[in-house]
Amino acid sequence: MKRLALLALLLVSSATLAEDSSSEVPAAAEPCDREACKLPNCRCSGTDIPGGLTPRDTPQFVVLAFEDSVHEENIVTYRRVLYNRRNSNGCAASATFFVSHLYSNYVFVNELYNRGHEVALHSMTHMNPSTYWRDATYDVIKQEFADQRVQMSHFANIPFDSITGMRVPFLQLSGDNSFRVMSDYGLKYDNSWATNAYTSPAMWPYTLDYQSTQDCLAPPCPNASIPGVWVNPIIPWVDLDGKPCSLVHECFAINSPDLFNETLWFQFILNNFERHYFGNRAPFGVSLLEGVIYPFPQVLSALERFLDVINNLDDVFMVTSDEVIEWVKNPVPISQYRTQACRQFIPTTCVPSQCEVISSYDGREYEFESCNVCPRVYPWLGNPLGQ
Ligand SMILES: *[C@@H]1O[C@H](CO)[C@@H](O)[C@H](O)[C@H]1NC(C)=O
Ligand SMILES: *[C@@H]1O[C@H](CO)[C@@H](O)[C@H](O)[C@H]1NC(C)=O
Repeated sequence: MKRLALLALLLVSSATLAEDSSSEVPAAAEPCDREACKLPNCRCSGTDIPGGLTPRDTPQFVVLAFEDSVHEENIVTYRRVLYNRRNSNGCAASATFFVSHLYSNYVFVNELYNRGHEVALHSMTHMNPSTYWRDATYDVIKQEFADQRVQMSHFANIPFDSITGMRVPFLQLSGDNSFRVMSDYGLKYDNSWATNAYTSPAMWPYTLDYQSTQDCLAPPCPNASIPGVWVNPIIPWVDLDGKPCSLVHECFAINSPDLFNETLWFQFILNNFERHYFGNRAPFGVSLLEGVIYPFPQVLSALERFLDVINNLDDVFMVTSDEVIEWVKNPVPISQYRTQACRQFIPTTCVPSQCEVISSYDGREYEFESCNVCPRVYPWLGNPLGQ
């Protein structure tokens, strides 16, 4: 078995060394030309509200985003906190899940999708440490994300086209590579790039046709022109010391609100929300790792209380990351937005299979649940369907 694992390792590292197999290397991006770069397919980076709307006419979007594998423990929280919520316009209130393959139960991924939530990509391996992602070649990113899209659609039995977004583990960028893979494989948006410079007013989503003016917190950042690919920037929260936290638990510092005090946490969430709501109404992201939040029930109930409040406000909408990009492409004022049809999705079914398969990568046995027939080996890099 050891020899098999070694062979797999060699195969993976030779893939790492392989030449960049994309069609062409794109040209360096130029400063944004506001005359040439127009919606719906191009937007310069910036804090201006799309469509030139005033803040009071702009829907305040709230995007709950969870990361990592979906399994029998965190699905319980997802059901309790998220299911059966509606926005004030009567449409379902939805969240986005950046799902990694390793340890995911695809029956639950199917359930999230069929409850109207967005399933997006968070890599096949979630490899540690973050330097793996920093140094990832085009081909590694292709295997981790483009192949994961095929894998997710197959094992969770959800439409390939419903998967449009990605987030790299550790919010670690890999220069142009991840964005070029997105462009070549038809992904719409990335949600990995955090900013500290543009939190108030906050940066709105933009495309990579031209040079980005966003600060680069986890270099290398892209510098090529990659037309039509959307960056949905991560706008951090700010903790009680004024320090930015891209993911909510990064606010769990010495000076964070008492983690066992729901009232203080409710107020803390509200204060962060209000920076957007009373500012330029850039989408308010709530980026969470369920496993880190779970030990603090008061933080979770503060979050539920916050959602109860915003689900009743006429100008606030809890939507998916994909819906935000769609609005930015065709921005309409709140009055018009409220009368639009709700987001549609194609319902699918799941006939669960319990799979126990050996990994040709490390020789171990893996169990997972699939909405498709069990694969021959554990699905992994270079063999996303485990054939
Ligand atoms: C673009 O970024 C890469 C690092 O990802 C760097 O090696 C290269 O020199 C940069 N190119 C330009 C034109 O700035
Ligand atoms: C939460 O904090 C507030 C303000 O410090 C305090 O008045 C309240 O008693 C605390 N609640 C609990 C349950 O500790």
